[in-house]
This record gives sequence, C-alpha cells and structure tokens, in this order.
Amino acid sequence: MHISIKLAVFELAYPLRPNPFICDDINNDCSKRGIKIITAKGSVGTIVGETNPLSFKFLINKEVGRGTYIKAKADGREWTLAQVDDIKRSNSAYSVSQLNDAARNYDSREMMIAEARVIGVGGAGKLHLPTSPARPGDPVFIADEKLIKATLGLAKGDMYVGMLRGYDIRVELDANTLVQKHCSVLAKTGSGKSYTAAVILEELLERKVALLIIDPHGEYASMKESNSVGDFSRYRVKPRGYDVTVYTPGEMAMNPRADRPFRFNGLNLSAREVSRMIPHESASSGQLGLLYEAIAAIRSETDSYTLEDIIEQVVRSNSKSKWNLVGQLESLLDLGLFSGTETPAEELLRPGRAAVIDMTGILPELQAMIVSRLLTDIFEARKRRLISPGMVVVEEAHNYIPERGTGTAASTNIVRTIAAEGRKFGLGLMVISQRPARVDKNVISQCNTQIIMRVTNPNDLKALSKGLEGMTTELEEEIKRLPAGVAMVVSNEIERPITVNVRPRKSRHGGVSTQIVIKEKAAGKPAPGRMATERAVMSKTRAAPAKVPGGHRPPAAEKKSAASLLKKVFGARRA
Ligand SMILES: Nc1ncnc2c1ncn2[C@@H]1O[C@H](COP(=O)(O)OP(=O)(O)OP(=O)(O)O)[C@@H](O)[C@H]1O
Ligand SMILES: [Mg+2]
Repeated sequence: MHISIKLAVFELAYPLRPNPFICDDINNDCSKRGIKIITAKGSVGTIVGETNPLSFKFLINKEVGRGTYIKAKADGREWTLAQVDDIKRSNSAYSVSQLNDAARNYDSREMMIAEARVIGVGGAGKLHLPTSPARPGDPVFIADEKLIKATLGLAKGDMYVGMLRGYDIRVELDANTLVQKHCSVLAKTGSGKSYTAAVILEELLERKVALLIIDPHGEYASMKESNSVGDFSRYRVKPRGYDVTVYTPGEMAMNPRADRPFRFNGLNLSAREVSRMIPHESASSGQLGLLYEAIAAIRSETDSYTLEDIIEQVVRSNSKSKWNLVGQLESLLDLGLFSGTETPAEELLRPGRAAVIDMTGILPELQAMIVSRLLTDIFEARKRRLISPGMVVVEEAHNYIPERGTGTAASTNIVRTIAAEGRKFGLGLMVISQRPARVDKNVISQCNTQIIMRVTNPNDLKALSKGLEGMTTELEEEIKRLPAGVAMVVSNEIERPITVNVRPRKSRHGGVSTQIVIKEKAAGKPAPGRMATERAVMSKTRAAPAKVPGGHRPPAAEKKSAASLLKKVFGARRA
C-alpha cells in the first residue's frame, strides 16, 4: 500500500514538471513506462512527492546511504543542507496488488526513495531553516565539505576529535565551550568512553588547559607515553606523550604508577572535616557527638593538634561506643592521607598539565569522601583566584554523583556545585559514565557538550532521551547501533547531532580489557602470559575488604598492624 502510494505521487508529480535534465537512470525503467526520468549531471537523485521546508523525499539514482549529507536548492537560490534519514526500496512489480501478474519483468520496476531531513541554509551568514520547501523535480547533490562544516557549525572549533562518520571531514569542537560549559561522555562499558575522553583531554592539554582527573582505575597514567597503535596517517595524528603527574591518596608502595602521594592537611582538623571522611552508615550520631566533644576538648588545651591527638582524646572518653569511632579514625590515620606534607591545590591545576588522582585500591566510600574534600578545596581556591582555571574530570561518575534513588556519595554536592557554578569561576567539568541512568541528572543537564557512544540498556537510553533536546526515535536507534570508537556529539554549538569516527589517541590508552577466557595454544601447555592474566583477573574480581568492625576495641595482642590495616583499606594490589 505504502509503496504504490509513493509511486503514484512520483508519477503524478513528474510529468507536470518538464525540465532540461537528461535521463540516465536505467533502473527506474523510464522509457518502458513512457515517462522520462531526468537527472542533472552529477546529481544523486531527484526530489519527488510532496515537500515541506523541513523534509523532502528524493528518488535515488546513485549510491547514497543513511546519514549521507546532501544538498538541494531550497527556493531555487540558496543551497540547503539535508541529511538522509531513511531509505526505502520498492518494486511495483512486487507490490501486494500486482503479485498475480506473472507476465511482468520484475526487476525493472525497482526504485529507491530517500527521506531527507533539512538541516538548514548555512551559507554566508547565520544558519536558518528555509522558509519555502524544495521543489519536486529538482536535483539533489552530495553536499560539499565547506557547506557541511559551515551549516553544522563545525567550522568554529579548534579541537580535533575525529572525522565525520563516512567522510574525510575533520570534526573540530570549540575548546572554550567544552571546558566552560562542561561535557559528559556516556556509553555502555567497552564502547570507548575513556579513549574518547582522553582524545579530548589531549587536545585540551595542547591548548594549555589545566586538568585534574579523578581516575578510579588508574587508566590515565598512560597519557605520559606515546601511542603506538592506530591509523595515524589516515587521521593525520602524531603520537606523543603529555605532562602527567599521578598521585595516590594511599601508600606509595601500594601503587607502582604513582609519582607522588596525595595528602590533605592533617593539622587542626575540624570535627566537620573529620566526620566527612568517615562513612556515615557506620558512624552513629552518638559517635559523631563523641568526635565533636573530643575535638572541642583538644582545642581548649592547644592550638595545634593532629589526627593522632584526636584518636587519643576519643580513647579517653568513657563512652562504650567509642571503639567503633576509634577504628574508623585509625583506618584514616593508617591510610596516610592526613600525614606528611599537604598537596597544595595550585600543584594540582597547572596550565598544560594533568594531575591524576589514582584511586586504585581505595574503598569506594572513602574515594567519594576524598573527592568531596579535594574538589571543595579546589573550588574554594578557584573562587578566590588562588589557582589556575582548569577542568575537573570525573571518571566512573555514577560512583561519585549517583542519581537519587540509586545510591549516595559524599561527593555529590560539590560536583553539583561545580556543574552549576564552575563556569563563573573558570572551573569546567567532564563526567564520564557507563550508566547514564545512574548519574545525577542535575549534573548531566548542565553539560553543554554530550558525547554519546553505544548505549543499549533501555533505562540508560531513556535517561539520555530525557536529557537531550531533539532526541528522536531514529537517533535512539542510531545510538544503539554505534560501533566502538564512534561517538555521537550533541552540543549547542553544533546544529544537530553528528556522528564521529574518533581519531586515534596520541598517547597510549591505559584502559585495555583484561582477557578472561584464555585459549590454549597447544594441549597441556598454558598460553603465554597466562599467569599474569589470571593474576589480573583475580585482582579485578577481588572481594571488597571487610569494614572496620564496630562495637568493641580489639585486645592489644590482636590489634592489627599498620600493614594489615593498609591492606584492609586498600585490598589486594592490582596487577
Ligand atoms: N577511537 C578508537 N580507536 C581505536 N580503538 C578504540 C577507540 N575507542 C575505543 N577503542 C578501543 O576499545 C576498547 C575499549 O575502550 P575504552 O577503554 O575507552 O572503553 P570504556 O567505554 O571506557 O569502557 P569501561 O566502561 O570499561 O571503562 C579499548 O581497548 C580501546 O583500545
Ligand atoms: Mg573507561
């Protein structure tokens, strides 16, 4: 039914519009039907049927595919850029009403109709939508690079992130917009989020932007080294390494990638500061009261005190519930986060350099507390213009800013504040997550640039649709089918979502997948590197370390050594 109506429209429309084009399309069976299908030289099709300023259909005479950018004259004057949304192939000989007609030459009546969506007229000035529709019978051409770039808004940018999918057109995003107005990278696991994020970070570092990266899995240390895998010549990319310093909030000996320890100022901590570093679910209000009391007592005697002094003071209390708090405070002490020299905020945001806070092995709730305090310090310092402007990158953001109802984290408020106010103070935000539905919507909605890679989970797709203006079912389908390494970029600066083949990284990618299933090379012989792989798998799947037991203090003889406490907090070392 659908097919024959379209054909009728085409047949009706065509003879009414005599024009000078020549017929060069044998597939459309022009001569046999007494109708001349006339196409302009170099065109890929002819507009048919009813058109409107936002869309038109055209009969394809040469190869075009879904997503192809095409151009046609809107009102006979300016070129309009449009994109093929869908293509339908039909054959009138096979239409339901004609199936009994055995005498037909079946192959000769095939035609392909493309449905194109108008993007706009970009030409000389500002982009606008044409006021009048394209004319049926007019030719359609493949759009040229200049028109595509100008109309889509790709000509304004300077950060090279890849090539427009299906084209050799460089996609360059505007660095200032991306940093100031925040950015999110969302996709399912393994689709290339960290890779793409790092491509953007490389470009930012080259533009002397200061970066602070919260890195739960230790993937960004490899940005120091240059990449050796990728199609560098096609993308015209020159591998190189960057100025990256890796910090560990834990013990240096436990993290071989770390260049320096990350430390907070451990002197004269307020009760509020200490309580922020203690997991709230295991600290009762009575215990927090104890902490406030202990610190007040110390302050009445001295101006300068350490975390150890606080522990001693809590031990002196007569409360029976003090041992749980002491256990928490001792874990904090053994972590070393409050010992030694404080890491100055200005060291963490330096132009053209990246500071990576490698959280490998730190308990999740402690990670969120570290992020909370660190970002609060950074934001305060930035407000007072004490440190450079820059960008904070939060990997695995669902852990640090969980959506209401999916969890809680101490870091949520400060990340929200940066998302809402950071722009005014020169502090940008990039959030990366494999679970869009589980990331705080308030933060995502503040991200002006959204990089979306493959997403298939229906809840995540729904969350994306809610946060994106102009999300259509076609776009949703496209997101489900994006191959690894292909990103959809949605931004206020770009007229409509574009798909990009992300360029190869210049620096080495650190987030390689760990092989789980080992194929034996020969029977009875372990595959090379098997032991290393198994170690890696075991450490990746290690059980979460037990929480500090509450309620009673262990007897002196059983008291855990510093090393075992460290192990408790860190878990086993990652391979
Ligand atoms: N543009 C690209 N070019 C080449 N390889 C890529 C590209 N994007 C991703 N890859 C490869 O795909 C794999 C997965 O990428 P990546 O580590 O970025 O995934 P991810 O989405 O961050 O996964 P996870 O959720 O597990 O962190 C990597 O091994 C990487 O080498
Ligand atoms: Mg990743």
